[in-house]
Amino acid sequence: MCGIVGYVGNEQAAPILLDGLEKLEYRGYDSAGIAVCQDGKIKMTKAKGRLKVVGELTHNGETLPGTLGIGHTRWATHGEPSDVNAHPHMNKENSIVVVHNGIIENYLKLKNRLIEKGYEFVSETDTEVVTQMLDYYYNGNPLQTIIKVMHRMEGSYALGIIFNDHPHQLYAVRKDSPLIVGKAKSGNIIASDVPAVLKYTRDVYFIENEEIVCLTEEDIEIFNVDEEIVHKESVRIDWDVNAAEKGGYEHFMLKEMYDQPKAIADTISPRIKDGKIEIEELGLSDEMIRGIRKIFVVACGSAYHAGITGKYVMEDLARIPVEVEMASEFRYRNPIVGEDTLVIIISQSGETADSLAALREAKGKGAKVLGIVNVVGSSIAREADSVMYTWAGPEIAVATTKAYSCQLVSMYLLSMKFAQVLGRITDEKMLNLVEDLKKIPDQVELLLSHKERIQKFANRYLAAKDIFFIGRGIDYAISMEGSLKLKEISYIHSEAYAAGELKHGTISLVEDGTLVAAVLTQEDLYKKMLSNMVEVRSRGAFVLAVTQEGNDEVERASDYVIYIPNTNKYFTNSLAVIPLQLFGYYIAVGRGCDVDKPRNLAKSVTVE
Ligand code: G6P
Repeated sequence: MCGIVGYVGNEQAAPILLDGLEKLEYRGYDSAGIAVCQDGKIKMTKAKGRLKVVGELTHNGETLPGTLGIGHTRWATHGEPSDVNAHPHMNKENSIVVVHNGIIENYLKLKNRLIEKGYEFVSETDTEVVTQMLDYYYNGNPLQTIIKVMHRMEGSYALGIIFNDHPHQLYAVRKDSPLIVGKAKSGNIIASDVPAVLKYTRDVYFIENEEIVCLTEEDIEIFNVDEEIVHKESVRIDWDVNAAEKGGYEHFMLKEMYDQPKAIADTISPRIKDGKIEIEELGLSDEMIRGIRKIFVVACGSAYHAGITGKYVMEDLARIPVEVEMASEFRYRNPIVGEDTLVIIISQSGETADSLAALREAKGKGAKVLGIVNVVGSSIAREADSVMYTWAGPEIAVATTKAYSCQLVSMYLLSMKFAQVLGRITDEKMLNLVEDLKKIPDQVELLLSHKERIQKFANRYLAAKDIFFIGRGIDYAISMEGSLKLKEISYIHSEAYAAGELKHGTISLVEDGTLVAAVLTQEDLYKKMLSNMVEVRSRGAFVLAVTQEGNDEVERASDYVIYIPNTNKYFTNSLAVIPLQLFGYYIAVGRGCDVDKPRNLAKSVTVE
């Protein structure tokens, strides 16, 4: 989703803006632009397409000299991707310029009012309304004017604003869209996310809702809507800067797949003590756990799939009923939750608009909310009652891999912990599970080392039109993730089906050569799965099977088999996902797709 960057300091702003925007490219965008203020004059360049177009048009920023500036990558919501709809947006006098991430929901009403007052609009965006409102209310005091405009806007926003009569000040404000401030040596920076500032500083401030920031070269001042100063501690970011770089890999996605053994180990190890699960940050006493009557797992995209796996594991191990729901549905359907309900929100970014709204809905109804979040200090992490971090480090590729894998193991850890507290697991079974859990990073490493084999297989299917993924039980959960991974980056139509459901319609789509990826890792479901594979094969399907070592009979019911190492029935998704990720990746590479930045998608979906 849109990314914003702003800089004020003693260095040229434009190259810093371009560099910061490049670091935010992963969020997804379709146009970009920067504006720089020098001696009270604001100049801007913006264009449809990739950021490098703006880089070329400005000779890497040289044509826009000045030490105060704002920049933006736009993911179109209001109005098509075009030069004119790209941000920044300026008023008629070129005295106020704005970049915006979010959606102003009442923009039409505000726009009509401004038109009545004689304002003219050049773009179709909601953001231009913000610029014109700032113009309308401007009284020479930026802070007061911004607050006045905030009171009139409904929706979500992170804004970067420059007033040309305050040529040494950069203003920013947020409501429900992410915004951070970095304190660098040469000046101060605003951004939508930490990777944009890491090159310049590791000390960042997380800006809260309805806080307004005024930055100068030396100072960072934060205000509330009553114009009072807000005191805030900076947070030291201890990521390795390289973690947000490709490090020699062709794509971030490939690098992040290779990060998985470490990410999984980092997520698991602090939570295993003396063969038992200890999750210090859980914020739930044993007594509270005993009082939980129902769990909701609420999330979007791959995080939702991790929730589905979690349901199978939690219900089987801890015997607590679990409902998994997409956040966009949960938030609007008046769900039945109360004080004895635990709501788990899973989110890599911690900023997904629907997941955040679901969190607030659940909290408002009295439920206890636990976040399973990757981005430290993100909105969901801050607003949840407690947070269990996945320690995947920064994830840049739009298609999640390592964060998803960490979400899976977090759900295993939670399920084991609850089963332990509720006395639903013997010490011996717990020990075995812990041993298997510890083996996952090495097993993932081994699977990754077979990547050439999967690449070869993928190359045979570059022209496929439809690919189906089937599985039963927990294997159905991983089929959904395998299917999503493939379609989101390769643009091949793909669906996941619970294998038993196939014959109720979908099997009519199977014809000669249709690729069906069948996942079968559950002993009690092998026979059923084998029958389903035979059914599709006898209708012409080519069957790719993913199964555990030793299941040799699978060879007879399929055309190609990928074996995963043995583990217990709860953890197989963590291993089966690796060949499926690699398969999606190599199909996308083979088709020449932009693997890290697939069309129309955003890493962090901060609007509805
Ligand atoms: C986007 C991303 C997905 C992600 C989903 C949920 O659609 O492209 O990879 O699974 O959002 O994001 P979250 O940050 O909440 O996990």
